[in-house]
Amino acid sequence: MAAGCAITSWAAALPERVVTNEDIMTLFDTSDEWIVTRTGIRQRRAADGPFVTPKGPSSPPGGMGTTAQLAAQAGGAALQRAGLSGADIDLLILCTTSPDQLVPATSSPVANALGIRGGAMDVNAACAGFTYGLVMAASLIGVGAERVLLVGAETLTRITNWADRTNAFLFGDGAGAVVVEASPGESALLGWDLGVDGSLVELCYADHGGPGMVMRGQEVFRQAVRVTVDSATKSLERAKVAASDIALFVPHQANARIMDAVAERLDIPKQRTASVIEWTGNTSSASVPLALVEAADQGRLSPGDLVLFAGFGAGMTWSSAVWRWGPGST
Ligand code: ACO
Repeated sequence: MAAGCAITSWAAALPERVVTNEDIMTLFDTSDEWIVTRTGIRQRRAADGPFVTPKGPSSPPGGMGTTAQLAAQAGGAALQRAGLSGADIDLLILCTTSPDQLVPATSSPVANALGIRGGAMDVNAACAGFTYGLVMAASLIGVGAERVLLVGAETLTRITNWADRTNAFLFGDGAGAVVVEASPGESALLGWDLGVDGSLVELCYADHGGPGMVMRGQEVFRQAVRVTVDSATKSLERAKVAASDIALFVPHQANARIMDAVAERLDIPKQRTASVIEWTGNTSSASVPLALVEAADQGRLSPGDLVLFAGFGAGMTWSSAVWRWGPGST
């Protein structure tokens, strides 16, 4: 479909602060057993929120209190691993639903930190964001870009309503980054699907100056399974491959039960699904790259393998892509 392009490097960054379900139990009436049974989440990382000593709006040097800091750390590590510098990058795509400022885009300070001058923009497609970015990166390479740095980074704990026991336990912070490069090899984006149903905005949103995340959990759950399965099915069809050909399924990490329901409907065995939700929680745009980075670091991917990315998010957005992995991946 698209010109050859490869994910040649990857890296993750997480805030130091671990927030366990026991920590969450100090905020409102809940239990570790309830959270684990309903979501599969045991802990998450936090750059902000009630468990983190306030650092002030700009955070001290070396702190991990902002989306830009997490993004720069993951992006810088991915560049280093590939032996590249910011000057080699044609475009930085930062996928985030928790930008640091209204203006400018958070990608600008990240580009500055990494020495990127080629171009930088934010993509906000909520939890579907990273796969939106992956499709855009491959498209840019199709029209002549050599290298794109694609980052998913979030500080969702800054927009979590810590008084709302129906969803505060879900969210976490973190960042994952990949370098996407033009490649003469077999690696490529084989099929993709992007979508939105803006009539479902009310299911999940956070207003300027509001209390934080508002969510109708059961309805999000129902719609999420439906749109993710539909989208992944379209991408598989467009790539002309079957679910049984997929070596690794990397779903958005929102809830282990949603991931299991989607994998089951697609007929993808659990052992081929990448899952980090147990220790990251829902990190929105960062969740797919965090799961990919862990799987790749564990050696679960070989050149020629087919990877299926799929997710959904507030909006309601959805996205999926079938990608042929390496060679050239470090
Ligand atoms: N601890 C204990 N009990 C609780 C808690 C809690 N933290 N929260 C709610 N309950 C109670 C409810 O009051 C209810 O009690 P009742 O039966 O007596 O009325 C019961 O638990 C069941 O509540 P439900 O809302 O039906 O629980 P559900 O099984 O749907 O799980 C959850 C809730 C985990 C939020 C689930 O609906 C879910 O994961 N939804 C999807 C969320 C998601 O993926 N969001 C992604 C979008 S976010 C983004 O894009 C940034």
